[in-house]
Amino acid sequence: MEIKIEEASSEHVQSIKKLLHETWIDTYSDILSSSAIESTTSSWHAYTDLQEQVKDPNTIFLIAQKTDDTILGMLSGRLTENRTFHLDRLYVRPEFQRLGIGTKLLNYTISSIVEIDEIQLQVGEQNQKGVNFWKKKGFEVADKNQIVLDQIKLNMLQMKRKL
Ligand SMILES: CC(C)(COP(=O)(O)OP(=O)(O)OC[C@H]1O[C@@H](n2cnc3c(N)ncnc32)[C@H](O)[C@@H]1OP(=O)(O)O)[C@@H](O)C(=O)NCCC(=O)NCCS
Repeated sequence: MEIKIEEASSEHVQSIKKLLHETWIDTYSDILSSSAIESTTSSWHAYTDLQEQVKDPNTIFLIAQKTDDTILGMLSGRLTENRTFHLDRLYVRPEFQRLGIGTKLLNYTISSIVEIDEIQLQVGEQNQKGVNFWKKKGFEVADKNQIVLDQIKLNMLQMKRKL
């Protein structure tokens, strides 16, 4: 399948929000209750916040699209002063996973940001898809912490890769 990667803009936000919601349900329904998923996605993926992130010059916000412009994946993150890229999200719609779209979004990010020495991110320890993907891409566990989502404790891995 032909995939194009481009910067997201305001017109894409509604589809990105839908993609995040759909992929969160698929990824976390074995780990979190449906109410925890609903409350987290409505606050973390609020329409106005996503609009601000898409417009923010310090945020890299990419989408992967089919040739008919359907959005199949997204990546967002921020470049910090110490030449580190903090990857906040990488999501591919469930029925389009394992087709290389996550890899394309990551590679595009690495090749389009020149001044970058390291990528850092956080992933749920129980999210095996995510952990396997990052390990395959050469990321290593640097630290661990715990967050609480709707009273559920989640172990998180801080992963990083030097470039
Ligand atoms: C993690 C995610 C973004 C990967 O995207 P993707 O497009 O499916 O990944 P790719 O097809 O580029 O996979 C690249 C490699 O990663 C590994 N990988 C990806 N998904 C995997 C899975 N479900 N199980 C085991 N390994 C996996 C494989 O080595 C794969 O190569 P292969 O298919 O040749 O074996 C996608 O599964 C996703 O959106 N998951 C839900 C959200 C999430 O967990 N995001 C990461 C946390 S920030």
